[in-house]
Amino acid sequence: MKQIFCSTVSSVGMYVPEKIVTNEDLTKLMDTSDEWIEERTGIKERRFVESGVATSDLGHKAAIDALNKSRIKSQDLDLIIATTLSPDFYFPGIGVLIQNKLSCDAPAIDLRGQCSGFTWAMTTADSFIRSGQYKKILIVGAEIQSRVIEFSNRGRNVSVLFGDGAGAMVLQSREVEHLPTATNNERGIIDNLMGSDGSGAEILAIKRPGMSGEDEFITTEETSEKAYLPIMDGRQVFKNAVRRLFESATTILERNKLKASDIDVVIPHQANLRINSAVAEKLGIEKHKVMHNIQKYGNTTSASLPICMSEACDEGKVKKGMLVLTLAFGSGFSWGANLIRW
Ligand code: UT7
Repeated sequence: MKQIFCSTVSSVGMYVPEKIVTNEDLTKLMDTSDEWIEERTGIKERRFVESGVATSDLGHKAAIDALNKSRIKSQDLDLIIATTLSPDFYFPGIGVLIQNKLSCDAPAIDLRGQCSGFTWAMTTADSFIRSGQYKKILIVGAEIQSRVIEFSNRGRNVSVLFGDGAGAMVLQSREVEHLPTATNNERGIIDNLMGSDGSGAEILAIKRPGMSGEDEFITTEETSEKAYLPIMDGRQVFKNAVRRLFESATTILERNKLKASDIDVVIPHQANLRINSAVAEKLGIEKHKVMHNIQKYGNTTSASLPICMSEACDEGKVKKGMLVLTLAFGSGFSWGANLIRW
């Protein structure tokens, strides 16, 4: 008989730097205010790394937390999937750096999905587990944004949003008679969704340095103009985020024959409290079921989902047996969702 495998979430871990930067701190660097930031985004403070710390260091610490919680040794991992938009190096990616810091020899791949990176990595890991190829997979999302944002009036629409941090998840294979479905109470990942729309690629991006056709990786003039900082049309991102997050949730609900009220917990990417509230309202999901911690950490891009999941688990808001929906949207445009019986 053919063996059937499903992926169960074994643990979720996180790490954020100690240094807290409040909205009030940012008002000393640019024309902004605590009221503006909190009202438009929900953010009150974020964490920034000290000098000397690398993105892979944050990822390593989150990975250790996840491994300790699942009591798995790094040497027993079959695969590492890392995701970031702020890697230590242009190449190689942070996957191999984290592998080296964990002193293990599992293959380590990097997956570029920006704010959707973690949902895409979960989808990818789930496929490897379902195929029977791997049994224990570590997923890491880690970001240092504080070094690529501009603390001045020019960059204020972007710089107030982002924070540093990392999250990690251990997914394990389990042999089952029937794959988990929304109705059979089998624990594990039930469904995944991934989406992209490259026509939005330049609406939220760091375009230089790069190989976009210019003769140089980055010119001296571009460096002096700080062309390496992110650009964003916030309103376009906002509109597309609400649309795609709503569509993703609706697709997942429909194809699993679920009503919004069947979902126990929604863990959305933490980009803006207003985006997530708008999506929850359109879906008709009760406010208390939607997890938020953007107030404390800002937008940590690929790390935001696991950081939010880790805190929700530690606070007892996500428990075994619950039906959990993750949702993410970001640069690309990219979006993704996972339906999990926790
Ligand atoms: O993971 C995906 C990442 N990105 C996002 O999800 C971002 C999605 N977009 C947003 O969250 C919102 O568009 C923002 C929070 C970025 C901006 O909010 P908004 O309501 O769309 O504001 P806006 O860009 O239309 O700007 C309104 C005003 C402008 O002034 P004027 O032209 O009305 O005089 C801006 O110059 O607010 C001004 N402004 C600020 N004022 C104080 C922009 N940034 C700031 C700031 N502090 N930090």
